[in-house]
Amino acid sequence: MIQPHGSTTLNPLYVDDAAQRARLLKEAETLPSLLLNSAAAANAVMLGAGYFNPLTGYQNRADALSIAKDLKTAAGLFWPIPILNLSTANNIQPGRFALRDPNVEGHPVIAIQDVQAVEQFSDDELRYLAQEIFGTLDAKHPGVQTFLGLGKTVLSGPIQVLNFSYFPDEFPETFRTAVQLREEIRQRGWKKVVAFQTRNPMHRAHEELCRMAQERLQADGIVIHMLLGKLKDGDIPAPVRDDCIRTMVEHYFPKNTVLISGYGFDMMYAGPREAVLHAVFRQNMGADYLIVGRDHAGVGDYYGPFDAQTIFDTRVPAGALAIEIFRADNTAYSKKLDRVVMMREAPDHTPDDFIALSGTKVRQMLGQGIAPPPEFSRPEVAKVLMDYYQSLGR
Ligand code: ADX
Repeated sequence: MIQPHGSTTLNPLYVDDAAQRARLLKEAETLPSLLLNSAAAANAVMLGAGYFNPLTGYQNRADALSIAKDLKTAAGLFWPIPILNLSTANNIQPGRFALRDPNVEGHPVIAIQDVQAVEQFSDDELRYLAQEIFGTLDAKHPGVQTFLGLGKTVLSGPIQVLNFSYFPDEFPETFRTAVQLREEIRQRGWKKVVAFQTRNPMHRAHEELCRMAQERLQADGIVIHMLLGKLKDGDIPAPVRDDCIRTMVEHYFPKNTVLISGYGFDMMYAGPREAVLHAVFRQNMGADYLIVGRDHAGVGDYYGPFDAQTIFDTRVPAGALAIEIFRADNTAYSKKLDRVVMMREAPDHTPDDFIALSGTKVRQMLGQGIAPPPEFSRPEVAKVLMDYYQSLGR
């Protein structure tokens, strides 16, 4: 199986031993508490799950600035987006802290952190980071808006993760750690694995991308790996997406060729940089390829349609990652051929021969009470979506 990023074995930061976990939880009661923001809590979940291997905790100011500039830590590890615990407080001293989860009622302890350094980003540095990570400083960009509101105090240092927040309870069948996925891939005997990132209920374009990637790469299996964390307003909630994806796979994919799973992270909408982070954590979960299509992890028109592919040529040095990307062109429904195709593979078509497929368009239709037509969504999936949208109107 493909090696994890940056080390030969996976080093998840979740404390697997129950007795040690109980000891740490008891100790946490005696420690000063820090209430995390949602981004830092999601980082803890990803670190705990092994997805952010080989990091040992939250990164410091020097690492963040180095990553923003060169996609590598101060020590030279390839890494695309800083993994931070930012705070708005300015009276914190280094020490051992119980980190509390903002996303679970009662704010239980999610991790213990040895805060080794407390540093400040200047306003200029914060803007520099946002510009480099998101490619824009526009406060209307949902990722920039969130990032600039997290605070300027950088709390860095190793963490021990004690639980996976609300994800295992809310998504018992779907939330999986990188450790669990590696194990599942091993058990299935899959040698070549393709990962598919998604924050949408899978429409025909998504379905076809998975099928094309599997056939062309002759892969043994596809891991559909959906985002289970927070999204911007208007995006479809995770339980509905989960239901749609399961329905689609059950009806349209051969048995045992697809593993449906999800990870606990908030969407950043950082386009190209986020695509590279996606590749890092799919390598950590055991995938050999990540599908990257049109406007991967994008929002609005902040990124060019294929910027998330070209970044792998321009900013990812050879050998930095073992995982490769499967580059998908714009997929659209061909009225001539009566199926979904990559547009570059239908050179005889005129624009009128295609129906463009996009998640945004499907959401708009649903909002107006229109069932997405079969060119957009499988009828079984359209039904799940319509039921959800009708339930909103009640
Ligand atoms: S994302 O934010 O998670 O990237 P989404 O779930 O819509 O959004 O996309 C999942 C993957 O499918 C991404 O790699 C994206 O580029 C790709 N994709 C979605 N729709 C299309 C399309 N019509 N043509 C090509 N690629 C697409």
